[in-house]
Amino acid sequence: MTQLPGLLDIEAIRKDFPLLDRVVHDGKKIVYLDNAATSQKPRQVLDALNEYYEQHNANVHRGVHVLAEEATALYEGARDKVAAFINAPSRDEVIFTKNASESLNLVANMLGWADEPYRVDRETEIAITEMEHHSNIVPWQLLSQRTGAKLKWFGLTDDGRLDLSNIEEVITEKTKIVSFTLVSNIMGTINPVEAIVRRAQEVGALVLIDASQAAPHMPLDVQALGADFVAFTGHKMCGPTGIGVLWGRQELLEDLPPFLGGGEMIETVSMHASTYAPAPHKFEAGTPPIAQAVGLGAAVDYLSAIGMDKIAAHEHAITEYAVKRLLEVPDLRIIGPMTAEDRGAAISFTLGDIHPHDVGQVLDEQGIAVRVGHHCARPVCLRYGIPATTRASFYLYSSPADVDALIDGLEHVRNFFG
Ligand code: ALA
Repeated sequence: MTQLPGLLDIEAIRKDFPLLDRVVHDGKKIVYLDNAATSQKPRQVLDALNEYYEQHNANVHRGVHVLAEEATALYEGARDKVAAFINAPSRDEVIFTKNASESLNLVANMLGWADEPYRVDRETEIAITEMEHHSNIVPWQLLSQRTGAKLKWFGLTDDGRLDLSNIEEVITEKTKIVSFTLVSNIMGTINPVEAIVRRAQEVGALVLIDASQAAPHMPLDVQALGADFVAFTGHKMCGPTGIGVLWGRQELLEDLPPFLGGGEMIETVSMHASTYAPAPHKFEAGTPPIAQAVGLGAAVDYLSAIGMDKIAAHEHAITEYAVKRLLEVPDLRIIGPMTAEDRGAAISFTLGDIHPHDVGQVLDEQGIAVRVGHHCARPVCLRYGIPATTRASFYLYSSPADVDALIDGLEHVRNFFG
């Protein structure tokens, strides 16, 4: 097998992921390269979910019986684990949601209903970027339609990076919130957080960072990022589906209004009015995703035991190798950064004039799972004048052999389509 510096012990890691042994289409072992869509789950997470349901299942924060206490301890324990994983100053700053989309929508709605100084209205502006996932575009379009606030955005350079040359026009004295992705889900670009946060702070705007494609892949320190909110999802980082996280600065969570009302998020309720529980519970109406949070806690334990810095180094080595080999394929155009510097492990490309759906289908027949389409980031495709891309995305269990399989698969695609 090709050896690269910085790789993890891939054989040992792959033993933790039962799905990677799956055989598809007439005996082909799966080559899973769709990690930006969702990651596979290690046995440790599957066991934690099973054990929770077999031994501890109950509703949280409600009962006096032993199961309710155990379930509550496990759910709140998962919050502690996530808080440590992202270096949050306080566990009360970690809100569990159902996914990153809900986390992003939650912030948009907090601001939409807020009083001064956070209120978003027709006198104010919202800043996003052209490389956002739809989940970080549509909530702001909705807020802008509802409030009359102006939605502005950073454009992209030809090599798939943010164009910050007009930063002072995009982020102005009127800007209330700047929301952007740390790592692009379609191009893999890692964005320059510091420059954006500095400008936002100059004008007193809040900053929300979508870390969905960062939290699984690199050490994430919310204090070092300097943002006010950070959103991510569990299922891309070895956790189950149905669990997301919103981290927010404590004083903001105290000041801002809740979005969903219901059980669990209140202090008192009468027929005339209600008062709310302190954060994070103020933002967690109803029965929360308990088992999913427990599963996310197990995922955090799993990733932390390996080490996020080692995972990042592994992915960097694989990405560098993948970029080099992809650029050797005739007619292949990478959409996004063409070096491994400042990029994550999601690589989008086009192959001559073969439609990405055809590329994906022929790869699938060979057992290679990639994603094709606009990847919920359609403005990126519009910017580069393409209908769609093929995206290969890697994770801690990806190997140089997976890259080689992709390259062989693409050769097959080219032969197939002449
Ligand atoms: N956001 C996920 C992706 O990029 C679904 O594929």
